[in-house]
Amino acid sequence: MLDIETIRSEFPALGQNVNGKPLVYLDNAATTQMPVGVLEAVRNYKERFNGNPHRGSHYLSVKATMLLEEARTKVAKFINSPSTKEVVFTKNATEALNLVAYSYGLSSIQSGDEIVICISEHHSNLVPWQRVAGLKGATLRYLYLTEEYEIDLERAKQIINEKTAVLAIAVMSNALGTIYPIEKIVDYAHNQGAVVVIDGAQSVPHLKTDVQKLNADFFVFSGHKLFAPMGIGVLYGKESFLKDMPPFLMGGEMVEYVTEQETSFNELPHKFEAGTPNVEGAVGLGAAIDYLSEIGWEKITEHEKSLTKYALEKLSEVQYLKIIGSKNLEKRGPVISFTLEGCHPHDISTIVDMDGIALRAGHHCAQPLMNYLQLPSTSRVSFSLYNTKEEIDILVESLSKVRGWLGYES
Ligand code: ALA
Repeated sequence: MLDIETIRSEFPALGQNVNGKPLVYLDNAATTQMPVGVLEAVRNYKERFNGNPHRGSHYLSVKATMLLEEARTKVAKFINSPSTKEVVFTKNATEALNLVAYSYGLSSIQSGDEIVICISEHHSNLVPWQRVAGLKGATLRYLYLTEEYEIDLERAKQIINEKTAVLAIAVMSNALGTIYPIEKIVDYAHNQGAVVVIDGAQSVPHLKTDVQKLNADFFVFSGHKLFAPMGIGVLYGKESFLKDMPPFLMGGEMVEYVTEQETSFNELPHKFEAGTPNVEGAVGLGAAIDYLSEIGWEKITEHEKSLTKYALEKLSEVQYLKIIGSKNLEKRGPVISFTLEGCHPHDISTIVDMDGIALRAGHHCAQPLMNYLQLPSTSRVSFSLYNTKEEIDILVESLSKVRGWLGYES
């Protein structure tokens, strides 16, 4: 079992009061708080080793290079990438998805091809593919959901076919919490000859990631949802793809040799890392990975599952509240969307904020999903390893008051 008291004491942000009440932070799908180990690693780097990596032979530059590459090695091990050459640092998952869409997509997708995504994709894994489809004369097709908010596998087999050039799909929906049967879908798509891009932004903080087991051609995630700073993300790509792909951004460090009219490009992964990188972000990500590895996935998953189970039960008891997502614990992660009859999610968020509770309201960057579900928006709570059942009780009590605040009789 997790030692929650110790864990919470390691996250300074959790100890504060908001609006006079202890902070109840339930917006972890948007961003997580950072433990002292990460904060100290970032501070230590900035205070003692701040230099521009891969660009100098003086002490600080060499030190920054070592720390950047050490972080890359930690990431490679964390996601079970066969090689550090296949781990590209980006700004975030969004930039990594844009890199794949613009570099791989624009150079490989042909007119008449099909790109398949799920209706619940975050705009980051949707808008870039719309753009590629538009530019290349390809068609963007969708996998739709059943009434239980799951992918209909039989229908999926009709949508993913020999015309599918790319399947781009998240392991876990940020808006619904559903965890999709990703390995089955990837296998099927590969059998049809498609290239598979996996968005792990939501799953990486909650499930052990193994890019080889997933057989992902590309896999992306962000550091800031994994206890690391904002501004650092990761693209994993199979070397067989990355080596032939054109660079995404041009500039310093991604080049081998530049003449007045021509440029040859650096080796992997540097070909995709133009400009001065976010070394402190990478160092923070490395420290976050160390932190998670010390705790271990078994304890994290057990704790988050028990929170999700408890929250599903307690939220179901709130009058007029409807959960928008699967109630099956085996098919979902610790992200729960809901509506409260007659109440706008933004009003809900503002009212519970008065009790110190942070939750997210809106379309969760998944407008096509909201249209599909015929909902303007939802409220969303999302848990992390530092949340407690007591916090869920505070949430439920606060939610029970919302309709009264808005003038309803009960
Ligand atoms: N993608 C993040 C979320 O779902 C910001 O909240």
